[in-house]
Amino acid sequence: MLNFRVAAENHRCGFRDVPACCGTDGYEDKIVERNPKSQNAIKLLIADHSEVEKMFKATETAGRDAKREIFLEIKTALEAHAWIEETIFYPTLQSLGDEKLTELTSEAIKEHVDMKCFLGELAATSTDFSKFEPLLHKLIEDVRHHVKEEEGEMFSIVEKRFSADGLNTLGSSMEGEKKRFQSSAETIYG
Ligand SMILES: [Fe+2]
Ligand SMILES: [Fe+2]
Repeated sequence: MLNFRVAAENHRCGFRDVPACCGTDGYEDKIVERNPKSQNAIKLLIADHSEVEKMFKATETAGRDAKREIFLEIKTALEAHAWIEETIFYPTLQSLGDEKLTELTSEAIKEHVDMKCFLGELAATSTDFSKFEPLLHKLIEDVRHHVKEEEGEMFSIVEKRFSADGLNTLGSSMEGEKKRFQSSAETIYG
């Protein structure tokens, strides 16, 4: 599997490893967020969002082959992210009985269904570039809209409803489940 850092050679900066020229865009913050000591659920999800956003940006300047490979990285990241939201995060929010959160999570679940549909279609059409390119564009547009709703509405309500300890406990279980999901996916797909 292509590592995103290698894919970054197609980034506008042309750097092969960590795009040092982009040090102000939060890459270092992301590393901090990945520190096992920092398990805050919201920070963990936002770190995932920004990681995927970097991949989206990398597709803008990538050639055809690189774009397909970055897409596989995007697919892997989005599937793991959606899994922990659907199995841990959203059900926890729904269990609070907050009407607005229940409405937002129901909408988010529908958007995840559409997103996974797009991921499947993209994987199936990745060799037909005339179909792949517009589908990828649509996926990126939809995911950006979904992330905007989560970060702009859902997360601010969650931060008010949970204590710092509660968010850390939730984040720890999501981080653990994400690792388990990723290792089982690697076992299945190699
Ligand atoms: Fe998310
Ligand atoms: Fe989501």
